[in-house]
Amino acid sequence: MSRPGLLSVADLGRGGIVEVLHLADSFAEVSERAIPKVPALRGKTVATVFFEPSTRTRLSFEAAAKRLSADTMSFAAATSSVTKGESLRDTVETVDALGVDVMVVRHASSGAPAQVARWVDACVVNAGDGQHEHPTQALLDCFTLREALAARAGSPPADDLAGVRIAIVGDVRHSRVARSCVLAFGALGARVTLVGPATLMPPTTQGWGVEVRHDLDEVLPEIDVCYLLRLQSERLREALLPSLGEYSERFGLTRDRARRLDPDLLVMHPGPMIRGLEIASGVADSARSLVTRQVHNGVAVRMAVLFRLLAGGLPSEPTGAGPAADEASPAGSGQGGARHG
Ligand code: CP
Repeated sequence: MSRPGLLSVADLGRGGIVEVLHLADSFAEVSERAIPKVPALRGKTVATVFFEPSTRTRLSFEAAAKRLSADTMSFAAATSSVTKGESLRDTVETVDALGVDVMVVRHASSGAPAQVARWVDACVVNAGDGQHEHPTQALLDCFTLREALAARAGSPPADDLAGVRIAIVGDVRHSRVARSCVLAFGALGARVTLVGPATLMPPTTQGWGVEVRHDLDEVLPEIDVCYLLRLQSERLREALLPSLGEYSERFGLTRDRARRLDPDLLVMHPGPMIRGLEIASGVADSARSLVTRQVHNGVAVRMAVLFRLLAGGLPSEPTGAGPAADEASPAGSGQGGARHG
């Protein structure tokens, strides 16, 4: 039987999110030290087990584990015996048999980390599964936004995002980041609007607690934060978009659109960014952009998650209804709590 892990933002609830943010405050301070390392997880082993490419998430988890003095192991499907036909189950049971405490799993199938958690003894952390969730991305986004708002107000970071108006823009339908962010931003009291073409919206947003709009220019003057999603260019082949040029014109933060923005509007993007498509370089590199800060803060937030898991489990306070994966997956629904028998 597996130990508690983190498969969804819903595993945390508001109380759990706030606890992770507070822990991350402490670990952010550790990261600023000349030797950014503490012995908190000495003797523990963290394995990153990635069946999909990653730059930020994988390096960030590995940096987090090392700063906590844990040992690390790294598995990438492309250079593993998966290429010889080894199954998901045999692969993760092999990694588990090597003696790991936490398995950080990314997979193209929604629900794969939940299935892995039923097979292994290690705690499983979802590092992005199909179109389902990417919980640590949403946590680092909450941390970054709260940090930016506090810096602007000249006050300590708040425990919530009450009343903050956030537009999540682009391919919401296929975005695991959007699903986790809707849960996390909503749990902290933000007002979330989804913006994009109807073809890139989920079939239903009933129970999500969001507004859905299709005109970015109408929405921009009404918001505090514009959270852009990566446009997955394969959606063009699926005929969900007329052309990339038209998408950029209607839903990109282009140079022209940027000239009309409120000077206080903050811009976020989970990466990888496609410059010139969903975001102009001038916007990505501007003072309003939190993109680099999001990456930077990911280490402290993931230190907090790893520490809490190995210090006895993340607190559970289900958030109730929220976004779910649109598609059934071979590995299961991907929904559910952190414990799996
Ligand atoms: N944001 C994010 O998940 O980036 P990577 O795919 O590089 O990990």
